[in-house]
Amino acid sequence: MRTIEWKDGMVVIVDQTKLPNEAVWVKIADYKAMASAIKEMKLRGAPLIGVAAAYGLALTAFHSKAETREELLKELEMSAEVLRKTRPTAVNLFWAIDRVMKTVRETAGTKEALAEAVVAEAQKMADEDVEVNKRMGRFGAELIEDGDVVLTHCNAGSLATVDYGTALGVVRAAIEEGKNVKVIACETRPRLQGAKLTCYELMRDGIPVTLISDTMVGYVMSRGMVDKVVVGADRIVRDAVLNKIGTYNVAVLANEHGIPFYVAAPMSTMDQSRTSGDAVIEERSPNEVTNVRSERIAPEGIKVLNPAFDITPLEYVDAVITEEGILYPEVHLKPKNKQTKRKN
Ligand code: MRU
Repeated sequence: MRTIEWKDGMVVIVDQTKLPNEAVWVKIADYKAMASAIKEMKLRGAPLIGVAAAYGLALTAFHSKAETREELLKELEMSAEVLRKTRPTAVNLFWAIDRVMKTVRETAGTKEALAEAVVAEAQKMADEDVEVNKRMGRFGAELIEDGDVVLTHCNAGSLATVDYGTALGVVRAAIEEGKNVKVIACETRPRLQGAKLTCYELMRDGIPVTLISDTMVGYVMSRGMVDKVVVGADRIVRDAVLNKIGTYNVAVLANEHGIPFYVAAPMSTMDQSRTSGDAVIEERSPNEVTNVRSERIAPEGIKVLNPAFDITPLEYVDAVITEEGILYPEVHLKPKNKQTKRKN
């Protein structure tokens, strides 16, 4: 089942803030509601927020009361500005908005023709996302062996995309090839995407998964319980991978234990125009750290840091799995000869 769908001039999404306890489908009617849904993380994950932003523009185009092509163009530019300001780190959001706006500029004809082209482009991007993930999965599956235990962080699964997933797409593809693969999911404080979403979708699909808290990564690696790490990415800059906070800890520990560390991401996540020095890391509300659900767990007045993403230098990355093939970064830290032997 897709995480996002266009239905009769509306966009239907599953509200991820309610999972895993309830699967609530929400109808989104305009770009402002789409921008709020992205900000509030009703939908999240780099590829998914890209497609969601494209659909936000499609909603503007579809429902526009503009009388001329120029008026519609202005409305689309205004919607694009609002959508761009929702979340700063995942480059897919900006890539998707730029792609739709390019289509807008290149489409000749009436405002009706323009509106149709915008909706068609958003739909195409949603379909392409699923295709791309399946291609990526097939490439990535080559790196997974029968019997592997794969550790993943956050949620880079079907819920972070239109369907199938990036990091979890690699696991799905390996299983479809007949390999026996198990997953260890880090809970991913503070938003708990691993516990809530990765565990939910893998259990739903019958893929064996074990939940650990983020503090247990060193333990499971040192006990030889992890064969590979596969994570997603929000932006891959020239020298680093930006992904969910905690990814860097996992990469350093994987390096220490000689465990291959792979990143699965579509080409739309690449940003060769930047380096880690000019990466924008989203800082979210302190409440996400001081509270667990509605319960306050830290003293009032405490100073809090809450960066939503961190930066893993490419030296820690063994391979980047894309829909065009597997890329091997030129720089490497580790000789792969010290993997901790499994102790069970
Ligand atoms: O804050 P989120 O939940 O949007 O962060 C998601 C991640 O960090 C994912 O790992 C990344 O977007 C890749 S999803 C295929």
